[in-house]
Amino acid sequence: MCGIVGFTGNVPADKILIDGLKKLEYRGYDSAGVALAYPGRLDVIRRTGKVAVLEEALSNDEHASCCGIGHTRWATHGRPSETNAHPHIDCHGNIAIVHNGIIENFVALRDELIAEGHTFRSQTDTEVVAHLLERYYEGDLVAAMRKATQQLQGAYGIAAVCVDAPDQIVVTRKDSPIVIGMSDGDVKGSFIGSDMIALLEYTRDAIFLDDGQIALLRPNSIEVFDRSGKTVEPTWTHVDWDAENAEHAGYPDFMLKEIYEQPRAVRDTIAGCVKNGEVILDELTLDDEDIAAIDSVYIIGCGTSYHAGLVARELIEGWARIPTTVDVASEFRYRNPIVTPSTLVIAISQSGETADTLAAVRLARSKGAKVFAVTNVVGSRITRESDGAFYVKANMEISVAATKSFLAQIACLSLIAMFLAQKKHRLTSNQVASLYSDLCETPSQIEAILENQNEIEEAAELISKAHSAMYVGRGIGATICKEGALKLKEISYLHAEAYAAGELKHGPIALLDENVPVVAVVTDSPTRMQTLSNVQEALARGSHIVAVATEGDTEVSEIADYVLYIPRTRDWCSAITASVPLQLLARHVALKRGCDVDHPRNLAKSVTVE
Ligand code: M6R
Repeated sequence: MCGIVGFTGNVPADKILIDGLKKLEYRGYDSAGVALAYPGRLDVIRRTGKVAVLEEALSNDEHASCCGIGHTRWATHGRPSETNAHPHIDCHGNIAIVHNGIIENFVALRDELIAEGHTFRSQTDTEVVAHLLERYYEGDLVAAMRKATQQLQGAYGIAAVCVDAPDQIVVTRKDSPIVIGMSDGDVKGSFIGSDMIALLEYTRDAIFLDDGQIALLRPNSIEVFDRSGKTVEPTWTHVDWDAENAEHAGYPDFMLKEIYEQPRAVRDTIAGCVKNGEVILDELTLDDEDIAAIDSVYIIGCGTSYHAGLVARELIEGWARIPTTVDVASEFRYRNPIVTPSTLVIAISQSGETADTLAAVRLARSKGAKVFAVTNVVGSRITRESDGAFYVKANMEISVAATKSFLAQIACLSLIAMFLAQKKHRLTSNQVASLYSDLCETPSQIEAILENQNEIEEAAELISKAHSAMYVGRGIGATICKEGALKLKEISYLHAEAYAAGELKHGPIALLDENVPVVAVVTDSPTRMQTLSNVQEALARGSHIVAVATEGDTEVSEIADYVLYIPRTRDWCSAITASVPLQLLARHVALKRGCDVDHPRNLAKSVTVE
């Protein structure tokens, strides 16, 4: 969603802000802008469209200011336009602000401020913040920010600059991430970003601001204050990501690059987690008594992370025999879920910032449950509000379509399932060692799939011409289908449905004809024969078949138009391997349909609003 950057230091800020905004482009946006601060003056430049358009506009003039803030906006209130783009300013152009999130009570505040004589220029919820700062500003922007935020309801990350202190940035947050860092390399100064990626070129040590904290950034210092205005000692976190990860590295798009990084992501995630048949998960800070008391597991997540949860349910119930419920976080948070202190809750979120998942975590904890996060982002909100966190080692994921994080999540969740099963005395050390050894095979199996992609292009050609595609499978295969169909929808804008294959005849089979291809996951599994029968039913309705099957499966190749093979593996490991051809398939279809795979329309990488 929206992105925030800021810099105050020893060199002109414009280029640094533009570079930072480019790094945040992956999050999705429709307009961009910057405010550059000078003594007695602010230059605010905003454009609709890409950051490159803003860059072009900035290049028309010299910009000497070494302090500024920048923003990429993803429209919520008010259509994408230059007037609605951030930064927004107060009545006199003395204060400029950028904002991520949504101010829920903006209508009441705007009416109040208009009644006081303030003039509004945009249709945004954000502009009230600029006018509130104006209302409270008496020479101290930090104090004004404290008073202004006391009036706000909703979620926000806010950065502000003011003409009276043109080398300072004041920043705060609530339910929307803000990261702060410093660099003393050639570029010396203080930085802000709504995402660590904006800072990585300059530093890997960062302060993840807490809700309610306000920070004052100067070129040589950062001060953090709590809600009452008391100075607090900030916590610095080291982030183990490479700046190079944010580069294409020769790949045509980030999605393909990240698909190719999957073997490493899985390897890094599982390395050293089982020794002599013992699962070692220090992050799961539960003692034997706590684990003995667990009588149910609840898994929450959204989108792809939810799909990883569905796989985890199969494994936890199958191995540990603990009843497991999986729910999308946006539903969980508004129900009255049966969660008690003896429920183990697992919150899955690549970004660790998804608003619905965060709300679900808070609800689960309020019911006394222990919540553990499975996430890719160190220091993210969900990790800090959970009782513990497992970090998948996918490294920074840029493509909106999640790929490597999904595989790493499944790998991590399979270790959690083994751990619980072992602690509940459902699996012996030998069985754990054997499962782990199967898991350790998956990275090289993914490599084999990536090396041999025959028929994917042809299958993609078939699907790209259809108006809808039906994905079917059973068990783990049914979940893989859900994820495959989501990938196709997200990046190729082609309608797809995913069904448990046995459900076809209960309704969706009515959709099938020669224009609706069926993508069937028919890998080696206890239900392979039943799935094959369902494929026959689809064939009988004229559907073309694209199958994901195990190498050497001639029965499938006889009936399918195209077969995407995966190496022979245990059924549960196919959750990892069988996902790969479906990711590649979705990407090929998207490219054939002329879509920008890394920037799918209407989508954002991290969904920090409800
Ligand atoms: O960061 P999270 O894992 O919490 O994000 C959840 C979903 O928004 C995300 O998985 C989304 O569905 C992806 N775009 C899927 O590719």
